[in-house]
Amino acid sequence: MINKKLVEKNFSSASQQYSQSATVQEFASLDLLEKLTKYKILQNNQLALDLGCGPNGHLQYSYQDTSGKVINFDISNQMLSLVKKNYEKGIFVQGDMDWLPFKSCVFDLIFSSFAIQWSQNIELLFTELAKLTKRNGLLALAIPNDFSLGNLKLVSRKTGCNFIFKEMPNHDNMLKLIKNLGAKVLEIGKYSFYEKFDNPLQAIRNIKKIGANYNNSTKNFISKKSLLSLLSYDKIVSDYFENDWNISYFIVKIN
Ligand SMILES: C[S@@+](CC[C@H](N)C(=O)[O-])C[C@H]1O[C@@H](n2cnc3c(N)ncnc32)[C@H](O)[C@@H]1O
Repeated sequence: MINKKLVEKNFSSASQQYSQSATVQEFASLDLLEKLTKYKILQNNQLALDLGCGPNGHLQYSYQDTSGKVINFDISNQMLSLVKKNYEKGIFVQGDMDWLPFKSCVFDLIFSSFAIQWSQNIELLFTELAKLTKRNGLLALAIPNDFSLGNLKLVSRKTGCNFIFKEMPNHDNMLKLIKNLGAKVLEIGKYSFYEKFDNPLQAIRNIKKIGANYNNSTKNFISKKSLLSLLSYDKIVSDYFENDWNISYFIVKIN
């Protein structure tokens, strides 16, 4: 079970500084929006949902000048307030993606970038998202998968720091679930993204800065000894530390 209160607290505390540190999240979101442009959506008062919208309201921004409407949805009120400040035109709903408060067949698009890994039950969530989407509507999802953070996991083990990271879903499993929805897969893929830091500790701190430090463990602390190893790790081999992400994306049409 995920402690949603803690997730909410972490993301809310990080909301103000999120944008300065969320490089990979920004890239994934803009990349998914770019992939969507050819589908000519959100015209004629169509309705979209941005699930786990964060503070920037990327979907809201993209469709600000169309007649489409965007519901910005997030577990964190602070994240939503930041979107609200910039885009008064949107609709704002605070809630938990595992308990969505919407009627069936209402959305022309459900968009979600770098948020679905926080779901307690992705299988149920995918089924629910398909239910909420209108016939011929689209699901556009970008989700970091379990190939992410390989370098940090390795360093964490080697330095004896044993820092625990949030588990990410597996690409093939997600694809299987999506295929089970009976939807038409329009685009699917995965890509890698690397963030550069001076050392692994900086990479771990960056995860905290964006609020993604929740890990289901109360024993997640770094001892002074491992802190020093994290600071100096790999300095002989390289001047910097690469935090590796692997991101799965899916654009599917609901039948
Ligand atoms: C890494 S951020 C991504 C934000 C944004 N989509 C972006 O690309 O910058 C994850 C977002 O998901 C939200 N979130 C986490 N768990 C959630 C849940 N159970 N229901 C709704 N939103 C959730 C967080 O508050 C946070 O704003």
